[in-house]
Amino acid sequence: MEKGISRREALKRMGFLVAGATVATTGLSTLSSCGSRKKKRIILYFTATGNCLHIARELADPEDTLLSIPQLVKEGRYELEADEIGIVYPIYGHMPPNMVREYMKKAKLKAGYRFAVLTYGNRKCNAVEIWDGFTRGIGMPFHYISTLIMVDNWLPNFDMNEQMKIDKHIPENVERIRGDLAQDRHWVEPVSDLEREQHAGFMQATGLDPEKGFLLRSESQFRVTEDCVGCGVCTSVCPRGNYEMTSSGVKTEGDCDYCFACIQNCPQKAILFARKEGEFFGQGEVNPKARYRNEHVSLASIKLANNQW
Ligand SMILES: Cc1cc2nc3c(=O)[nH]c(=O)nc-3n(C[C@H](O)[C@H](O)[C@H](O)COP(=O)(O)O)c2cc1C
Ligand code: SF4
Ligand code: SF4
Repeated sequence: MEKGISRREALKRMGFLVAGATVATTGLSTLSSCGSRKKKRIILYFTATGNCLHIARELADPEDTLLSIPQLVKEGRYELEADEIGIVYPIYGHMPPNMVREYMKKAKLKAGYRFAVLTYGNRKCNAVEIWDGFTRGIGMPFHYISTLIMVDNWLPNFDMNEQMKIDKHIPENVERIRGDLAQDRHWVEPVSDLEREQHAGFMQATGLDPEKGFLLRSESQFRVTEDCVGCGVCTSVCPRGNYEMTSSGVKTEGDCDYCFACIQNCPQKAILFARKEGEFFGQGEVNPKARYRNEHVSLASIKLANNQW
C-alpha cells in the first residue's frame, strides 16, 4: 500500500495509468481545469527502486504525462512532442543507465524546453556534465540539468536499512526544482575539477566503457537461492525481461543495466550477487538481508514501469 495519497497524488497516478495505456503525444497545449491554457509536458523516467518514479510524480502537475522509458522501448515509441519534455533517471557510476542512453540515441524529443533531474545517493561527481555532453553530442541539448540526492540503492557499499534512516532533505530539494521548472529556468548545475577527477578514478577502477556505462550480463552477476518461492516478481520488474520461470526454477540471462530492480524487489531476498574474487563487480554486498523500495512507490508501479512481457 502506498503511503499518504493526497488528491493531487491520486490525480497524478491516474495520469501515470493513462500513460501506461499509451496516450497520444501530439497536440500540444491542453485546457486546465480553470479554463486557462497550460503547457503540455511529458516526463520520462527510468526506475528500479522507485526513487525516480517518485520524483517524476512529484514534479508533475495532474495534466502532465509520465512515461516509463522501458515501456517506450517495448512499444518502439521514439518520437515525442510537447511544449516541455523532462527526464528523471538514476545515475550509475555518474552516468545514465545504458537503456536511457540507447533510448536517447534513437529518440526525437521535440520540445521548446528540455529538463533533466538526475537522482543519486552519495556521490554525483560530474554526472551533470556527462549528460550535458552526451545530449549535446546527439543534437538534443537540455536547458536545465539538476541532481537530487535520495536513498542510495547501491547494494555493494550501502546497507539499505541504514540508508533509509538518513534525512536527505528530499522535499526541500524537490520544491527547489519545481520552482526552477515553473520558471523554465535555464541552468546546468556546476561541476568541480575534483568531481571530474573522482569520476576518472572510478572509471579506471571499474574498467567500464564510458560509451556504454553499466552493461553487464545478468547470468554472471546474480544467483537465485533456494529461498525462491517462484512468485514471478523478478520476471515483471526487470526492464530487460531477463528473468524466466522454467521447470527447473527461475533463470536469468541477458544484457543487464545493473539497475537492481530484480535483487531489490524480490520479496524473498532470494536473489544475491554472484561473488567473484578479485573482480570489481564480484565483491558481494554489505547486508543481504536489507532491501529497498521507495516508500511512496508500490511494487505494482515498478512492474507497470518495467514489465517487458
Ligand atoms: C549500478 C548503480 C550505480 C550507482 N552509481 C551511483 C553513483 O555513482 N553515485 C551515487 O551517488 N549513486 C549511485 N547509485 C545510486 C542510485 O543512483 C540512486 O539510489 C537512485 O536514486 C536510484 O533510483 P531508482 O530508485 O529510481 O532506481 C547507483 C545505483 C546503481 C544501481
Ligand atoms: S522474485 Fe524472488 S522469490 Fe520471486 S520468483 Fe524471483 S527469485 Fe523467486
Ligand atoms: S537483471 Fe536485474 S539488474 Fe539486470 S537489468 Fe534486469 S532487473 Fe536490472
